[in-house]
Amino acid sequence: MDNDTAQTFSILLIAVLLGWVFLSVSLLWTAPAGAPWLPTSRKLVRRMLALANVQPGEVVYDLGSGDGRVLFIAAREFGARAVGIELDPLRWAWTRMWIALLGLQGQVRVIRGNFFTQDVGEADVVTLYLLQKTNNRLRRKLWQELHPGARIVSSVFLFPGMEPMRIDKKAHLFLYEVKMPCQSQAEQPSKSPG
Ligand SMILES: C[S@@+](CC[C@H](N)C(=O)[O-])C[C@H]1O[C@@H](n2cnc3c(N)ncnc32)[C@H](O)[C@@H]1O
Repeated sequence: MDNDTAQTFSILLIAVLLGWVFLSVSLLWTAPAGAPWLPTSRKLVRRMLALANVQPGEVVYDLGSGDGRVLFIAAREFGARAVGIELDPLRWAWTRMWIALLGLQGQVRVIRGNFFTQDVGEADVVTLYLLQKTNNRLRRKLWQELHPGARIVSSVFLFPGMEPMRIDKKAHLFLYEVKMPCQSQAEQPSKSPG
C-alpha cells in the first residue's frame, strides 16, 4: 500500500469510527435519564393506540416521543391531539420539523424536556416505551396527575402493583385505566384480606 492509499484509508477509518461514536452516543445518551432511543414499529404504534381505544379529539401524550411517530399516527389516523415530551434536542427538532412539514401545528406539539418534571394531567391517553425502572419511577406521578378514565399503554414494561385492564400478550402491550384521582392503586389493598 502506498502512502496516499494508506492516508485515504486512515481518513475513511476515522470518519467511520467517528460516525459510529456519534450514532451510539445519540442513541444511548438518554438511557440513564429514562430510556435509550429505540423506535416502536409503526404497526405496533397503531396497535397501542387501538388498544387504548383512542377517540377523535382525545389528548394523547407520548412520554419520550423519539422521532414523533406515535404523535403523527395518533393525530393523522386517530384524529387525536398529540403531545410528545422528548429530552433529546435532535429528536425534538426532527419532530418539530415534521410537524411543520405536515402542517400539523394545530394538532401536534412536542415539548423539549424531561417527562419526570412535565405535567401530563390533560392527557386522556399516555403511551410509553421506556424501561422497567423508569416505569417504576413514573407510576406514582401518572396515577396522581391523570384523571379517572385516562388510559396508559405501556410497551413491554409493566407497572408493578397495578392491575392491567387488558394485555396484548402477542405484542407485549399493557393497558391500564386510572380509576381514582390523586391516589395510586398500588397504595390501595387490591384484594380484601382473607
Ligand atoms: C425507547 S424510545 C421510544 C420512542 C417513541 N416513544 C417510540 O415508541 O418510538 C425512548 C425515548 O425516550 C426519550 N427519553 C428518555 N428519557 C427521557 C426523559 N427523562 N424525558 C423525556 N424523554 C426521555 C429518549 O430520548 C427516547 O427518544
